[in-house]
Amino acid sequence: MKRFFIKGGKRLQGRVRINGAKNASLAILCATVLAQNEVILENVPMISDVLSMVEIINRLGCETVWEDVDVLRVSPPLQVDDMVPHRFFKKLRASNLLLGPLLARFGRAHIALPGGCNIGVRPMDLHFKGLTGLGAKVSLEHGYIRADSGRLHGAQVYLDFPSVGATENIMMAACLAEGQTVVENAAKEPEVVDLANFLNNMGAKVRGAGTDVVKIEGVSFLPGGVRYSVIPDRIEAGTFMVAAAATGGDVLLENVIPLHLEPLRAKLREANVEVEEEGDTLRVRVTRPLCSIDIKTMPYPGFPTDMQSQMMVLLSIIPGTSIIVENIFENRFMVVNELKRMGARVKVEGRMAVIEGVPGLQGTRVKTSDLRAGAALIVAGLVADGETVICNAHYIDRGYYRLEERLRELGADIRSV
Ligand code: EPZ
Repeated sequence: MKRFFIKGGKRLQGRVRINGAKNASLAILCATVLAQNEVILENVPMISDVLSMVEIINRLGCETVWEDVDVLRVSPPLQVDDMVPHRFFKKLRASNLLLGPLLARFGRAHIALPGGCNIGVRPMDLHFKGLTGLGAKVSLEHGYIRADSGRLHGAQVYLDFPSVGATENIMMAACLAEGQTVVENAAKEPEVVDLANFLNNMGAKVRGAGTDVVKIEGVSFLPGGVRYSVIPDRIEAGTFMVAAAATGGDVLLENVIPLHLEPLRAKLREANVEVEEEGDTLRVRVTRPLCSIDIKTMPYPGFPTDMQSQMMVLLSIIPGTSIIVENIFENRFMVVNELKRMGARVKVEGRMAVIEGVPGLQGTRVKTSDLRAGAALIVAGLVADGETVICNAHYIDRGYYRLEERLRELGADIRSV
């Protein structure tokens, strides 16, 4: 298994270019099966989750070619081979986003029910509520989701929770449904908006993405035949911002959309971190003592749950008491036990973590259980005294492209085995 070795104590300094968004790329790759003609996607990060999704759509019948390190040409299938082996779907939870597009384009979908994962049960009840509302019959059998439909018809769907995945699945299915679909209490994440922009680029009629109410006018087919550039990854950017702040560094992030980082920037500023916007760059540096703050994760535009573990590391070395409330997932404090082994003082009570700042962390051997906890342990290793060894580091490669090289370019002492 891959491991990272980090000798902490180096301030991060310099410039780093942010890659395309993992979660936008995964949804958009699923949407390509809706198109009649090939599409070319730019700014797609060659991370292992994207490679897994590319393998799945290849097995479904798509043809894909990497034309450059971040440019992918996708020729959609004329029909699907719906017996993709279970193990491919299990590897990547986001494969559940194929449900809507396959139903809309081919009238049927047969995909493995993604398991829960470390951060929570991850049910799909809202996905099924929306798709059955559009006229699909959905059943669960032997760990697979089987969905069938004639032509889908428009519907009014209220999401009890603004689920990103449910909003995306319903939006993609509704593109080819007969009539209008209205999704109320829709997710407003930038990745949802990026998917809507891609769908409209391909000939769909999606309005209101980024607001609570999304309206989709069904069309009979999506020509496709477009070139589309994926938005930058706000969580990758946020991870570098927190690492810069935690190491007392001075880092310029290139190729970001500052608006997407506003929730994080606001909280970093509250903690006295300097964050300056200059066009499509953000400069993060520490010029005065930091102060403890309180965080609660919320759907966008609230503070992103995917930045919660990384933020906990920063707060663990700021004097005073900070509180984090995790409102999105029921089990997203796994990194706490590893941080405590590095000297952090964190007390978890249900969805609340109370952090007492300590003067510093000590390097030791730790292991990660999910992608963002892994990113948090990287930040911890960068600030800790001595060497930190992070096991199960393959989790980190799921969402960060060439992370160790890019951290080394910023002055970090990090290597992998
Ligand atoms: C997406 O997951 C992201 N993944 C997650 O990023 C992110 O943490 C999450 O949105 C929240 O922002 C991708 O986009 C591939 P949700 P998703 O449906 O769509 C409950 C990362 O590290 N829920 O918004 O699965 C659910 O249990 C990953 O990049 C239902 O109850 O998130 C959770 O508590 C981790 N019923 C909450 O909603 C449903 O039908 C948020 O889930 C669906 C969800």
